Amino acid sequence: MNQNEQKKLVAERAIDTLIERKLIFSGMKIGLGTGSTAIPAVKRLAEKIRSGIIKDIKAVATSFQTSILCEELGIPVYSMNGNKIQGELDLAIDGADEIDPAGNLIKGGGAALLLEKIVAYNARKYIIVADETKVVPHLGTKFPLPVEIIPEARISIIREIEKLGGKAVLREGVKKCGPVITDNGNQILDCLWEPEKDGTSPVNPPEIEDRINSITGVVETGFFTKNKPSIFIARSDGTVEER
Ligand code: 5RP
Repeated sequence: MNQNEQKKLVAERAIDTLIERKLIFSGMKIGLGTGSTAIPAVKRLAEKIRSGIIKDIKAVATSFQTSILCEELGIPVYSMNGNKIQGELDLAIDGADEIDPAGNLIKGGGAALLLEKIVAYNARKYIIVADETKVVPHLGTKFPLPVEIIPEARISIIREIEKLGGKAVLREGVKKCGPVITDNGNQILDCLWEPEKDGTSPVNPPEIEDRINSITGVVETGFFTKNKPSIFIARSDGTVEER
């Protein structure tokens, strides 16, 4: 199975399994992630709504990509602050860029990390769907850690991240001149650490999440370490593993 087939398989399997286990249920409040693995999960959920298996879902979308898809599919979308959601979700489902053995994540490859984290950290149950390429021994040396920043603080934040051992680069737009502008009007720094010679991790993700978040001008980091997810992983042999 190629990577795209694995993404579709794991997304659909997770939605079906969560419905069977009554973790996705009628009337619930659900956070919907962003990216090419989250999208088939949203589409599968829409199929279940259309067929009447699930009713009266209240969704929070983590990006323009997801809210536009929900509009197209007829899934009602609400604000986290609205009366129907009250800042709390029953469950959130999303993809990830990297997953370590402790269940720490890097997210934000699609620059949606801020809303993704607001949703993830306010969900009673957090589900990650991913293909096997996302599973790594440690975070931050291959896929760069995205950090959403206020543009005016770019240089000072780059300097502070260097003090933490990372090298930060401003993310450039594609089919757009200049930097990527996030859904919230901010910019993204992509940060990499050199691998340690002995193969150990150069970063402690929970600690670096807090330290980067304490730098003035940082809006949020793509380390997700505080609400440990249940993880569905698709393998190239067509199996799905749960962790
Ligand atoms: C977007 C994200 C995505 O969940 C992450 O980039 C994984 O994307 P994909 O499923 O397309 O590989 O964090 O900000």
